[in-house]
Order: sequence, then structure tokens, then C-alpha cells
Amino acid sequence: MSGTFITFEGIDGSGKSTQLRILAGFLRAQGVELLLSREPGGTPVGVRLRAALLDVQGEVDPLTELLVFAADRAQHVRKVIRPALAKGAVLISDRYADATRAYQGAGRGFSSQLISEIIELATEGLVPDLTILFDVTVEESTNRTTRRSAKNKRDRLDIEKEDFHSRVREEYLRIATAEPQRVKVIDAAGTIEGTQEQLRAIIVPFLQRRGHLSNRLVNTPRHKFKRGHC
Ligand code: TYD
Repeated sequence: MSGTFITFEGIDGSGKSTQLRILAGFLRAQGVELLLSREPGGTPVGVRLRAALLDVQGEVDPLTELLVFAADRAQHVRKVIRPALAKGAVLISDRYADATRAYQGAGRGFSSQLISEIIELATEGLVPDLTILFDVTVEESTNRTTRRSAKNKRDRLDIEKEDFHSRVREEYLRIATAEPQRVKVIDAAGTIEGTQEQLRAIIVPFLQRRGHLSNRLVNTPRHKFKRGHC
């Protein structure tokens, strides 16, 4: 069986990391060989790149930022994603190349041609089998990140202005419209449970079709839905 590569995307505060954590518990209970990863920071090198990028004190030039996200991705693809897929695993990454289109392309204003070339270089053309886009309005996401940052320190990218996040969201939605087979949009404005239900309605049949998940699901105890950071 060949592996399956799934990515989760959405603006900051969309709740994707919370949803990923809950979904992972469910899929593992079903016996799925599942690996979770993230960008930036999916490898030991990437963890250091992530710290440099998200440091609130750091003055990171937009071109540097673009290239460091690409470096992080190149390491991630070669050291983590491809080996996992070669073993036949399901790998879900919290963010991948669409984030560069949305944040560095639409957000920072780099041309789509440059973004495409850099993505191609970093990924060697590796495209996810499925991408879930957790869609919320910028207003809702700001409410969530403000609540979160009252508890934790805000990172540099959390502090970007509202129109930046609007452009990021619009770009994600544009990608979803352009690639409806790969990218499935979930309305992530409701409850954690409601969003998780929408997510499973997509993921379960998808993994069943690809032979990772049996057609007869094991009954699992209901998870405690606690909001984590996303
Ligand atoms: P993320 O890990 O989702 O944030 P969190 O700290 O909430 O877990 O993503 C970190 C930030 O990096 C997020 O604001 C989006 C940004 N990002 C880009 O700008 N470009 C990229 O290519 C990627 C992967 C992330």
C-alpha cells in the first residue's frame, strides 16, 4: 500500500491544530499507521528555523522569510514526508506549501510565479493527496488568537494586521476553488465537535478508499474536546 499525504491549512486561529489532535486520537484507535508533522518545524533543523522565524523580537526580511520557509520545507519533504510515504504511512502535516502561497504570496505580495518556482524547488513537485482548509472569518480568528495570546505570548506573525489575514484567507479560498479535487473546505466557525464531525465525514471515506482504514469502524469512547493551540 502506498502512503497518503494530507495537509491541514487555514488562517491563524482557525482551530486546525486542535482538530488535528482530536482526529489523530480517533484514527490511531482505528489502527491507522499515522504520523503527524508540521511546518515550520517538522524536523530538528526545522525546529530551529521555526524559532528564528517566529521570534517576536526578530527582524525578518520578507525574502528571508520566504526562503527559510522553503528551506524548512525542503528538509521536511526529504527527511520526513517522503520516507513516511515510502513506508505506506498516512502523514498529516499541519501546514505545507499552500501556506506559502497564502502568506508569502497573497500576504506579503511575492509574485505567484516566484512562489511557484520556490515551492517546486523545495517540494520536488510533491503535492498532497488531500488538503483540508479550515475556514473562518478574520474577525473570528482574531477573537480566538486574542484569547489565546492573553494566556501565551504572541508571536511575530500573530501580530500582523487584519488586511494581511484577509488576503491570506482569500488566497486559501482561491486555491480551494482552483483545485476542488484536492482541497476540501470546512466551515470552522462552529463548535469543536461540529468541525470534527465535518472533518471525519471527509477523512474517513477518503482513508477507506485508499485502504488505510477498515470499512467497519471500531467504537471509541467520546473524546474530551479541549481547545488546544492551533
Ligand atoms: P503555525 O504553526 O500554524 O502557528 P501556531 O504557532 O499557531 O501553531 O504557523 C506558524 C506561522 O507560520 C503562521 O502564522 C503561518 C506562517 N507560515 C507562513 O507564513 N508560510 C509558510 O509557508 C508556513 C508553513 C507558515
